[in-house]
Amino acid sequence: MKHYSVMLQAAIKGLNVKDDGIYVDATLGYAGHSSEILKRIKTGKLFAFDADSEAINYSRHLLSEISSNFKIIHSNFFYLKEKLEEEGASEVDGFLFDLGLSSPEIDNEERGFSFMKDGLLDMRMDQSKDFSAKTIVNTYKEEDLLKLFYEYAEEKRSKEIVKEIIKYRKAKEITHTLELVEIIKNGVGANYFYKHHPERTIFQALRIEVNGELKAIEKALPEAIKMLKKGGRICVITFHSLEDRLVKQIFKKYSEVDEIFKGMPDIPEEYKPLIKLINKKPLTPTEEEIKENSRSKSAKLRIVERI
Ligand SMILES: C[S@@+](CC[C@H](N)C(=O)[O-])C[C@H]1O[C@@H](n2cnc3c(N)ncnc32)[C@H](O)[C@@H]1O
Repeated sequence: MKHYSVMLQAAIKGLNVKDDGIYVDATLGYAGHSSEILKRIKTGKLFAFDADSEAINYSRHLLSEISSNFKIIHSNFFYLKEKLEEEGASEVDGFLFDLGLSSPEIDNEERGFSFMKDGLLDMRMDQSKDFSAKTIVNTYKEEDLLKLFYEYAEEKRSKEIVKEIIKYRKAKEITHTLELVEIIKNGVGANYFYKHHPERTIFQALRIEVNGELKAIEKALPEAIKMLKKGGRICVITFHSLEDRLVKQIFKKYSEVDEIFKGMPDIPEEYKPLIKLINKKPLTPTEEEIKENSRSKSAKLRIVERI
């Protein structure tokens, strides 16, 4: 199995790992980043989250060959704070979020994430849950599908696509990925389809909804900021503009003085910025990395430090 860890060196350098620190990898995947963190920890501990039990099974074995200073938590990182508090880890030296999907998730057609290979319309990172892409396309009301595609796919022809889905599902349940791709093509017409490939962002929207991806970032990232020790770091790698915009907004909110206090001599403690940006602009992969792994092309790494 081939799996590349994106921006591995830059993210590990950004985390500034201390040998006695507490670190959290919110997106364990195939443990590329976690392995590097664990190698640098002597008396500290690594907590690693993933919703996907296939990734966890693989990574547990890999990490245990490095050391035993880790704990894997099978959960959406939406519950980051609650789960870490249960472990007694309410102060943390560093968090890593390497967002989105791993290559094994994308490449295995049985997981239903790929719009290029046929498989059941699934897209669950956590296969112990019932809610899948099939549930969404077959049961969401017209206006909810429309809202989903406008918001998470930013697809201007969403109306035509939703109309086609509604028409199709009256006759037959939509069960397969390539069946949905065909419906999208029929909705927008072949010219638009081959020019703009709306299936890419429609699949992205479905996967975000199935796994609550943006909601998890919205909740967990501010919580991570508040759990950081002074001098602690957060590194976030994003892969598309919706994720990156959200991360940027959250970091802006917690690194700037609120408008109403700007220019005032005394800012109340609870309104002072909690973090500083380590790079004003996000870091991006090198040409060599993109050549080696084309999926890294859209990656952006943002790093902040608790003040
Ligand atoms: C890009 S991969 C991480 C790759 C990893 N850094 C490595 O080096 O192998 C993202 C992983 O995070 C998981 N994931 C994404 N969003 C998640 C969420 N909200 N909660 C839990 N796991 C999530 C996915 O299942 C996937 O395994």
